[in-house]
Amino acid sequence: MAKTYAIAIDGPAGAGKSTIAKRLAKELGYYYVDTGAIYRTVAYFLDLLGVSPKDADGVERYIDELTVQITYDEEGKQHMIMNGMDVTGEIRTQDISQKASLVSAHAVVREVLLDMQRDVAKAHNVIMDGRDIGTVVLPKADVKIFLTATPEVRARRRTDELIAKGQQAEYEVVLKEIIQRDYQDTHREIAPLKMARDSIKLDTSELDIEGVVAAMQKIIGEKIPL
Ligand code: DC
Repeated sequence: MAKTYAIAIDGPAGAGKSTIAKRLAKELGYYYVDTGAIYRTVAYFLDLLGVSPKDADGVERYIDELTVQITYDEEGKQHMIMNGMDVTGEIRTQDISQKASLVSAHAVVREVLLDMQRDVAKAHNVIMDGRDIGTVVLPKADVKIFLTATPEVRARRRTDELIAKGQQAEYEVVLKEIIQRDYQDTHREIAPLKMARDSIKLDTSELDIEGVVAAMQKIIGEKIPL
C-alpha cells in the first residue's frame, strides 16, 4: 500500500482545531477527520436511549447496538451516521459537548472507536483532530500539532459560533463549561488530553485564522513534501 501522510491536531475545546484543519485539508487535498464528532455521536445515541453518560454499565450494555459511520459529501464535509441516520447537525449542542466528554472516558467506548479512526488514516492522507490523536490514535503521525488558547478566548469563539448557528449561548456559561470539559478531558484515566512529546505547540490566543493557517503551513511544509 502506498504511504499515506497523517497530520495530528490535538488540543482543548475551542482552540480552533476544526476550523483550521478543514481549511488545510482542502488546500492539501487530504481527508479531514473530526474525531470529536464520533464521540458526540455515541453520546447522542445514549442520550436518546436515556442512558446517563456516567453510567458505565449502561454504556457497556448499549454500545454494541450502535453502528457509527463517517461519510463525506461532495463538498468534503464530514457527516456522522448513527445506525443509518445522519445526525451531523443534532450532535452540535452544548449539552452533547458535555455528554461526549463524559462518555469518552469509558474504556469500552474508546476501544470500539480506535480501529475506525486508524482505518481512515491507513487508506487516505488525513488531517485528524481530537484529544489523543498524536498520543494514541496515530502515534507515528508525520506532523503533530497541539493547538491551544486561553479558556477565555476559546469560550468567546465557541459562544460566537453557537450564536451564529442560531443557538442560545451566554459567554459566562460557555466559559464554565469549557473549564469543566478541559478538566474532564485532561484528568480521565484513558487517553487523556495531553501534548505528545514530539508535538509542536501553537497558542492561537493572539492569532486570527489566517495567522494560524500560515503558522501551520510552515510547520507542515517542514515535515511533509507538499
Ligand atoms: O472536539 P469536540 O469538542 O467535538 O469533542 C467532544 C468530546 O469528545 C471532548 O470533550 C472529549 C471527547 N474526545 C475525545 O475524548 N477524544 C478525541 N479524540 C476527540 C474528542
